[in-house]
Amino acid sequence: MGASGRMDTLSRRGFLQGGIAAAVASASQVGAKAAPARRLPYGAAVALPDLRSDPRLAEAIAANCNLVVPVSELKWSDLRPTRQQFAFEGADAIAEFAKANGLVMRGHTLVWYAALPDWTKDIDSEAAAEGELRRHIETVVARYRGQIRSWDVVNEVIPDVVRSDRDRRPSLWSRWLGDRYIPLAYRIAAEVDPQAQLVLNEYDVEFATDESRAKRGALRDLAVRLKDGGAPLHAIGLQCHLRGGLPIDRDGLTRFVADMRDIGLKCLVTELDVIDQKLPADEDQRDRLIASQVREVLTAVTAPGPLDALVTWGLSDRYSWIQYAAPRPDHRPNRPLPLDWEFRRKPFMNVVEDFVGREH
Ligand code: G3I
Repeated sequence: MGASGRMDTLSRRGFLQGGIAAAVASASQVGAKAAPARRLPYGAAVALPDLRSDPRLAEAIAANCNLVVPVSELKWSDLRPTRQQFAFEGADAIAEFAKANGLVMRGHTLVWYAALPDWTKDIDSEAAAEGELRRHIETVVARYRGQIRSWDVVNEVIPDVVRSDRDRRPSLWSRWLGDRYIPLAYRIAAEVDPQAQLVLNEYDVEFATDESRAKRGALRDLAVRLKDGGAPLHAIGLQCHLRGGLPIDRDGLTRFVADMRDIGLKCLVTELDVIDQKLPADEDQRDRLIASQVREVLTAVTAPGPLDALVTWGLSDRYSWIQYAAPRPDHRPNRPLPLDWEFRRKPFMNVVEDFVGREH
């Protein structure tokens, strides 16, 4: 049996015994290179063009992470150039990078209102929507069965302005299928890979604002309904795109995670970074504020018990969506991530390691 076959067998056994953490331990024992040992899975999202163009990024991921997530390569935008085709080259390349470095991979994302290719506008009936959704999930989950241990199945399904706990975000999928596409997506994914951890991923539920509290309420309602209805949902993904300076609702967030654990759901932080658009210009001061906000959110979400995994949405400030989505008015470079523009550690990384452990 080749090295990758051995990894699949060992990782699968590890996963069955102890969730994504055990899969990470198994993968790092048998990868071409050993991933750093940590108490908890820690990883970063990476875009293939960045990985290919800058060897420092690959080195930094291999040195710091035991988990990796493709930023875009598993979205419909990248996987589905036409209605007939699946284009796996980008995702496969990241999967190869993961194997070579003993990293486990998370999948992001099977069902999202955004990043849909233009041809999806031609979907014009309930039957067509269900057929396309099913074919996509079946094909993609089957291809990475055994390597992708954890999937964001449904992403960002709660609207930004929530009027009642029952509010769900309108999308192509809800237009044709109503809310039933949500449990359906979990069922299809579980049929194809019964061992995969299936996650419901959401953002902006971390803050002490009315909007954030309302989103949290609707997310709780959805998770409870899915579990009550018997959907194979295993965990909640808290994206944690923190807005620098906006207070974290520590008690509310802790209560939310405790509620989720009470109904049998694990909790992952899936896209952590800090939007530093409104923070002070001084870099040391900014880095300190960012680290302290990260500590606050991680303290809140781990109070009821350990996270299942922690992922930052990138690793180095040089490669972050925040550079173009939320540039600073003073034109200074953003600093949203654990490593700086030259891949040097920042206080953010020390906080991460306080929660996921350091290699020793
Ligand atoms: O790869 C192409 C490149 O070949 C091309 O030259 C370039 C020109 O625009 O585009 C590149 O693709 C871009 C891709 O990011 C690169 O990874 C897309 O245009 C751009 O739309 C895409 O944006 C991503 C966005 O999701 C939409 O998919 C961001 O990088 C990514 O950070 C962001 O991630 C989201 C999560 O999926 C969900 N949660 C929020 C998070 C931040 O918005």
